[in-house]
Amino acid sequence: MRIDIISVVPDLLQSPFSHSIMKRAKDKGLLEVNVINLREHTTYARAQVDDYQFGGGAGMVMMVEPLVNAIESLRKTTNYDEVIFLTPDGETFKQGLANQLSLKNNLLLICGHYKGIDQRIRDHFITMEISIGDYVLSGGELAAAVIVDSVGRLLPGVLNDETSALTDSFQDNLLAPPVYTRPVEFRGWKVPDILMSGNHAKIDQWRHDQSVLRTRERRPDLLSGEDG
Ligand code: ADE
Repeated sequence: MRIDIISVVPDLLQSPFSHSIMKRAKDKGLLEVNVINLREHTTYARAQVDDYQFGGGAGMVMMVEPLVNAIESLRKTTNYDEVIFLTPDGETFKQGLANQLSLKNNLLLICGHYKGIDQRIRDHFITMEISIGDYVLSGGELAAAVIVDSVGRLLPGVLNDETSALTDSFQDNLLAPPVYTRPVEFRGWKVPDILMSGNHAKIDQWRHDQSVLRTRERRPDLLSGEDG
């Protein structure tokens, strides 16, 4: 899978994909991430990419022309399945959407800054708008990093058995059960006996029950099936 990201602060996106599972995905050639500096696509003086909004009001707006230049130059060589704008008024990002996006070949993510991007970009180029939650970030970069990470780890071959995505929270609308590792006892706090029993059918049942309990306590909305 290839993910291109247009940003005015490309440095923000250097580290998130250079470690751990994302690094492995890239090293194995399963995921390619390219960060494109929007300032390299503007024809305005001093690499300007934003301007005051028409009608007045606080906050700058990212101009249409640099974004069109960047998008059209990328499209010359890549056919995007989705052109995604990261914005707090987009569709809320959930595991189901991560699963769907992981089936695509090429994604283009556009990070907004300031007051957002000129509406004409949204009208004519964007195919999907995503928010990572009901709070406002200072730019779309951290949201883009969240999406690349959650989508990238789902690509076949990225995770091994130990890190399998199948047992993640949310994959079956349940939160993950508690987990333990050595030592069996620490300060008198013991690992549940069932996990030491060697009875895998019983352990699976216990884990499922714990998942249901935890979900009922913390996220009952998931059990009512309202949450995709
Ligand atoms: N840009 C600013 N806030 C955002 C959010 N919550 N999700 C996605 N992009 C954003």
